[in-house]
Amino acid sequence: MHAAGHEFAPASPQDAVTIGAAPPAQPAAVEADAVVVFLPEGGVGSGAAADFDRGTGGLLGRVVASGEFTGKRYECVPLLCPPGLRAGQLVAVGLGPRETADAGVLHRAAAVAARQLAGRPRSRVVFAADGWWSTRQVEQAVAGAAVGMVGQDLYRAERRRTPFAATLWAGAAPEAVASGAIIAAGVNLARRLVNTPPNEIYPQSFADEAAAVAGRTGLEIEIWDEDRLLRERCRAILAVGGGSARPPRLVILRWRGGGGGEPRLALVGKGVTFDSGGLSLKPSDSMLTMKCDMAGGAAVLAAAATIAALKLPIDIVAAVGLVENMTGPAAYRLGDVITARSGTTIEVHNTDAEGRIVLADVLDVVRGCRPRRIVDLATLTGACMVALGHDVAGLFTNDQACCDAVAAAARSVGERVWQLPMDREYDEQIASDVADIKNVGDGRWGGAITAAKFLERFVGGIPWTHVDIAGPAFAEKPRPWTDGGGTGSMVRPLVELARGA
Ligand code: BES
Ligand code: MN
Ligand code: ZN
Repeated sequence: MHAAGHEFAPASPQDAVTIGAAPPAQPAAVEADAVVVFLPEGGVGSGAAADFDRGTGGLLGRVVASGEFTGKRYECVPLLCPPGLRAGQLVAVGLGPRETADAGVLHRAAAVAARQLAGRPRSRVVFAADGWWSTRQVEQAVAGAAVGMVGQDLYRAERRRTPFAATLWAGAAPEAVASGAIIAAGVNLARRLVNTPPNEIYPQSFADEAAAVAGRTGLEIEIWDEDRLLRERCRAILAVGGGSARPPRLVILRWRGGGGGEPRLALVGKGVTFDSGGLSLKPSDSMLTMKCDMAGGAAVLAAAATIAALKLPIDIVAAVGLVENMTGPAAYRLGDVITARSGTTIEVHNTDAEGRIVLADVLDVVRGCRPRRIVDLATLTGACMVALGHDVAGLFTNDQACCDAVAAAARSVGERVWQLPMDREYDEQIASDVADIKNVGDGRWGGAITAAKFLERFVGGIPWTHVDIAGPAFAEKPRPWTDGGGTGSMVRPLVELARGA
């Protein structure tokens, strides 16, 4: 049995969880608090659901015939005290039409069942995998269950979700279960970092977390403090961090799984640990959830850790620019002109468009590593949420093949992305009268695109894709497959991207 904490190592003994594989279930012999079976639309079919139908004297078939359970996607019905089983309950989860039940659907279906069951402490939950699932489907289902059982109530005396002490995947290959558990550890790490309040997560404490994770997973780490940032001419990062009592940091992580040449892939994350807007202060309502403004950085750290924990044969570099955007006496001002590390000068028109200024220097640092591709993740613009809503990330690129690879990786695990245009005409909008560029467009139209256009100036022509995760990174409301809060958006896609690169 493979043991995995839910973040590469358990934070406390109470959080120790075990996730393992087991042979296909003999229904009458399964000892568990609950058994979860997955059913496509239209009946019991063959495979694990049919085995449990027989093992319960036709219970599943009768429930389907009664119309109480139809196999619709993410439908989840607990059947208590099932006849013929030792398990306390049999949970039926719907997959929708079998042809469309891909890795992304299995991920969510498993998460729905796990989230529901994690409403009470469970010592042992068995999930029945089916023979027709591919390795990727098993992996994503395992990851979904391990993510669904973890909630966001880090600070409640009585937690609303309790991770199962043991999860067993019956009929699944041990290697796929092990990698699924590692992927979940990455997603849960990103979620916890986002959910941790901004009085606890600030640039130095995020860097400390990164160092701990690097130690556990074998990543190399460098942390640049404010002196080093100054020596490295990272004046853009320093400008944005100026208004905070908590000085900025840059975290650089390396995984050399591929022989140690120039990196195949550079990951860049926006790590604004709290975004008050600075002197262009946000209204209270918009500020409340701005602990989520380091979600890109959290996803990049988590993806790098997962890539290392999976020992993928690839060289990558990952960098997270960490600042707190505040209004202190040394805050940067409107009208300031900042010389970024690349030499490009930036006129500040709005201190709330801070993410792009931070990323200007981070992108320049990774550009110096001469990566084949750069992918940056940022909760960059409210405009991207206006365009695409809560569930879809925006993609922006200077290289269609690079963007297609990111999109394919996202879709392969069920995360939604949509590309927006990057025509040259948008460049005029960030022209400045006094500097090379200004940090906002003319007016608010196309705000997600003008932000991406700004970033493009700092990638030096390297194939690059920007992912604006302002929508999907943070869920204000719970969904059937996840509690509200940080979602771990883009962690799984980045792992798939690294696998395919
Ligand atoms: N961090 C915000 C973007 C954001 C908004 C993320 C909502 C998640 C949810 C970003 O720094 C910001 O404030 N952007 C401004 C840019 C504007 C001033 C040009 C925005 O989107 O309003
Ligand atoms: Mn902002
Ligand atoms: Zn921001």
